[in-house]
Amino acid sequence: MSSTELIGHATGSSRFVDDLDLPSGTLHGAVFVSTIPKGKIAKLDVESARAAPGVAQVFTAQDVPGQNQIGTIVLDETLFAEDEVHFVGQPIALVVAATKKEAKAASRLIEVEFEEQEPVFCPRVAARAGNTIGKTRILSIGDVESSWPKCDVIVEDRVETGSQEHVYLETQSAIAFPGEGDGVKIISSTQAPTTVQTVAARVLGVAMNAVEVDVERIGGGFGGKEDQATPYAVMAALAAYILGNTVKIVLSRADDMRITGKRHPYSIDYRLGLSRDGRLLAYEVTYYQNSGAAADLSTAVLERSLFHATGAYQIPNVRVTGYCCRTNLPPFTAFRGFGAPQAVFAIESAVHRAAAELKRPVDELQEKNLLEESFELPFGMRVGPCHGKRALQEVKALADLKQIKKEVVAFNSGERVFKKGVALTPIAFGVSFTSTFLNQASALVHVYRDGSVSVSTGAVEMGQGVLRKMRAIAALTLGVSEHRIQVESANTKRVANSSPTAASTGADLNGRALEMACETVLMRLKRFAATAYGCHERQVKIAEDEAHFGQGKRVVRFEELVDAAYLKRVSLSAGAHYATPGIFYDKDIEKGSPFAYHVFGAAVTVVKLDCLRGTYKVEDVFIVHDGGKSLDEKVDLGQIEGGLLQGIGWMTVEHLPFENGHVGAANLATYKVPDMFSIPRVTARFMDDLRNPRAVRSSKAVGEPPFLYGLGCYFALVDAIAAFRPGHRVRYEPPLTPEKVLGYLYPRSGSAT
Ligand code: MTE
Ligand code: HPA
Ligand code: MOS
Repeated sequence: MSSTELIGHATGSSRFVDDLDLPSGTLHGAVFVSTIPKGKIAKLDVESARAAPGVAQVFTAQDVPGQNQIGTIVLDETLFAEDEVHFVGQPIALVVAATKKEAKAASRLIEVEFEEQEPVFCPRVAARAGNTIGKTRILSIGDVESSWPKCDVIVEDRVETGSQEHVYLETQSAIAFPGEGDGVKIISSTQAPTTVQTVAARVLGVAMNAVEVDVERIGGGFGGKEDQATPYAVMAALAAYILGNTVKIVLSRADDMRITGKRHPYSIDYRLGLSRDGRLLAYEVTYYQNSGAAADLSTAVLERSLFHATGAYQIPNVRVTGYCCRTNLPPFTAFRGFGAPQAVFAIESAVHRAAAELKRPVDELQEKNLLEESFELPFGMRVGPCHGKRALQEVKALADLKQIKKEVVAFNSGERVFKKGVALTPIAFGVSFTSTFLNQASALVHVYRDGSVSVSTGAVEMGQGVLRKMRAIAALTLGVSEHRIQVESANTKRVANSSPTAASTGADLNGRALEMACETVLMRLKRFAATAYGCHERQVKIAEDEAHFGQGKRVVRFEELVDAAYLKRVSLSAGAHYATPGIFYDKDIEKGSPFAYHVFGAAVTVVKLDCLRGTYKVEDVFIVHDGGKSLDEKVDLGQIEGGLLQGIGWMTVEHLPFENGHVGAANLATYKVPDMFSIPRVTARFMDDLRNPRAVRSSKAVGEPPFLYGLGCYFALVDAIAAFRPGHRVRYEPPLTPEKVLGYLYPRSGSAT
């Protein structure tokens, strides 16, 4: 890993799985999948495929030496279908051949007959039939029932949020190398090396120490490789293990879009009650999460929705109910925000409806009800250090919201064809894996005799700059310059039992473990120096590659100190383990304190709508963000811009329909993602005097929260639509594509009036 890691990503020189040099004789895999959403496999004949040119082997469920089971939280997903299929795209067989082309061609020769059964695609239908995963989750605070009569205004509605394709640059990819004996080494494009290791060991029926997983970097994950990278890595491992040959699997973009999991669609019912002066008094909400055909991470995703039910607001009486509904769609999975965006969209919609009902400006309601430090959230956690109000005030000043609103009113009264809209979006995002046990990490540090340093953690680089942050932490802690630090790949042999790089905790968890390991080596060096150079341990200072031993003493270079320590047999290697302190959650009573802290911020979004075409432009987004003491401001700014744009995509153009269980937009011609022309002018500021004692070097996690800024785009568009067609009721069903906008602009006749 060179110091040019991020430049490599940006310029295309970073190598991904498909770019790696392979041993000659490497075989290639093609996955054969179900073409129906639900049914029995009446016949499966792979003989013609086996006999096809170049084919080494065809694997089905029967060829699995261990367990044919890839589930992680719930054991409900096969690697290869056995006698039933549950979704279009469910793997049935793997064809391994000399070339990718031959593997693909042979897979078409597999004969399969299904007895089709009635599929279910609607989460509410699944819930009604009792087809849910895990227990029904209900969490509450105060008393909603007795609150309704006290409310002056009550709004109720249904919200439907759509799916979203990850569109990571690198598709699901893996290479597996057979080792000696039971061993296998896997290079996988995964966010979760340990998950791949665990599941590969289970499927092969070998011990975990026989499986090595190595991840140098991945070409984007966005949650789509927390669980969904596993089956392909495990298939490659299975084939390599049985055939004794290197095997590579790289999904084509079309296959990746067709068969892998995406963001969970939610169907949501809510009821929100307020006092006449705009205080939020009671909120009742039910989430029907469309989980797809297998659990994957759905129960954890739902949990994060539950914990973000009230968004950035404080509401004293709340009841939240959540169902993971099993349907015959590909298993939905982690995607930036991990269930929070769906919940936050619902509460924001409710607040916007309520403001319209009360005929008050939305931002007044938002500001009045913003979270405060001492407030107890519905799941029992006190908010703690809270910078939401400050962010909101600062973004209003940054954008000059008063002035913008005035200008928009003036613009809209003078224009017939174009209308502008504005929205304010406060955010509060809880940081930590909601599953407490995952909040741990380990690191390993070696200082070599020449003063160069090698560091290993479980953190996976996916473009978010986590290795850049690891380098900075190691250099700052040891007091040496960054060029001395080599950040190694995430490898299960060097760092065991790592959590996925997810939940925005990559730098928090791995960074703290790394800092601790560096501190151990540093302490030993100082202790050694005190004896060797005749001073007190406390007088030893290492900074800028030099060791100082107090007034009048000589100064030595870092490498000199290290080499001297080595000759006195001082250990220059250390490992460390970090577990986030003070977090817990009890699912039986649905109370606890699951997050180390929250990330706060606020955005102002300005859009311009073309009322002839239904098209629009997000003109400006102003953001004030709480990033703690940033480990790298440029990286964090990139995360804000990237998250924002992904959120804008989900709200606007990323329409992902399913047609009888088939993904209706399986390439980038039919699935529209934001492009360079969609990028608004972004004016983002950090509240850079803030320090977060709950994370490494006073920093704050940054990966997911900015996705929520994108939500403002929907409400700004609704504001613009209202300027054209006052009083017309817009549904809260993102994405708000130009087609849908036209429908709202011209509700009946389809032409301008
Ligand atoms: N940024 C880039 N460039 N690529 C990614 O895949 N994933 C996001 C976010 N930012 C992602 C990204 C998601 S979903 C998460 S959880 C975090 O990065 C994970 O990395 P971190 O924990 O180091 O922030
Ligand atoms: N976020 C992301 N991934 C996860 C989580 C979470 O809270 N819990 C389990 N996997
Ligand atoms: Mo992120 S959705 O937690 O990988």
